[in-house]
Amino acid sequence: MLQISNVVLMEEDAIVTAVGTPNMALIKYWGKRDEKLTLPTNSSISITLDETLNTKTSVAFSKSFKEDSLYIDGKRIDLANDDAARERFSAINHLKKAAGTDAKVLVVSKSNFPQSSGLASSASGIATLIFAASAALSLKLDKREMSVIARQGSGSACRSIHGGFVEWRAGTSVDGTDSYAEQIAPPTHWPEVVDMIGILSRERKKFSSRAGMKQTVATSPLYKARMEYVQGALMGMEAAIKAKDFEKLATITMRDSNSMHAVMLDTFPPLMYMNDISKEIVGRVHDLNDEEGRKVCAYTFDAGPNANLITTEKDAGKAASLLKEVDGVEEVLKVRIGNGPRLLGEKDSLISSDLEPMIGE
Ligand code: PMV
Repeated sequence: MLQISNVVLMEEDAIVTAVGTPNMALIKYWGKRDEKLTLPTNSSISITLDETLNTKTSVAFSKSFKEDSLYIDGKRIDLANDDAARERFSAINHLKKAAGTDAKVLVVSKSNFPQSSGLASSASGIATLIFAASAALSLKLDKREMSVIARQGSGSACRSIHGGFVEWRAGTSVDGTDSYAEQIAPPTHWPEVVDMIGILSRERKKFSSRAGMKQTVATSPLYKARMEYVQGALMGMEAAIKAKDFEKLATITMRDSNSMHAVMLDTFPPLMYMNDISKEIVGRVHDLNDEEGRKVCAYTFDAGPNANLITTEKDAGKAASLLKEVDGVEEVLKVRIGNGPRLLGEKDSLISSDLEPMIGE
């Protein structure tokens, strides 16, 4: 069970607001060994992004609420009829239990980027929610404890609890207590690293990560090979980050993205998250790196077509030009490594002092 370091009684009706961000995995998580607890089959490594893409979330617990309510980007989410949302949101019940309260919660959340399109919106949303709700309940959880709870809302969310370079250790225990995220290095260790994001689509993905990875584990014969290869990739990535070896980081990043998309394609029926534009970007990155005789940038794709080109400050312009030259790239964003979630003041609150959601523009 979760160890709570210090519990202070919640301040009734306190409104807490936090901002958090997505993370981009360099070694991917794709597959669970336990669906209910969200325990992964392999460890994963990511960089937490800065606030260029962010989620702001206000949380209030109150005995005066009749039910839990959630508003995302101005819309009320029907928790009774939206299974996926309810499952993710249920992570908050672990916090209520830890605080010993049955008060209902009002959550109002707003992201400045599209949901469910392979930009890690769930990671950003859940990590920020757990961070804000822990504070609203005055639970003095450390980041490891918060990551264990965030993990149960959405696996990748556990990594967004920390800033910098982060590893989600898969763990081996059946209760999941050793499956948490840890910071490998702070953002200041290698601040030159940049994620140049090429947005190709803002459409919601047709097949959720949750359903997709379950289908992969059940049907892909290639998945076993990925599990064997990934152990070496994790060790290599950790060493590359510690040594600030970009050549190595870039090679492992591209190979791991390819490995994940290979098992996706090997899933039956196949999962195809990358599109022709994504594939053209892959080709162009290899051409550019070949021309320069070094790794200028590395591509990585999540469960969506949008491209992330991992590069360093000195080559950020080259990576941006590469993306801008590809037909179908709608927008290019330059994102650096971020510090993880933080609390905001009252003026940023999305909940009014009389506990009403403020969802207008
Ligand atoms: O945490 P989920 O269920 O959104 O899964 C995300 C999985 C990938 O983004 C595709 C890879 C990763 O490690 O973030």
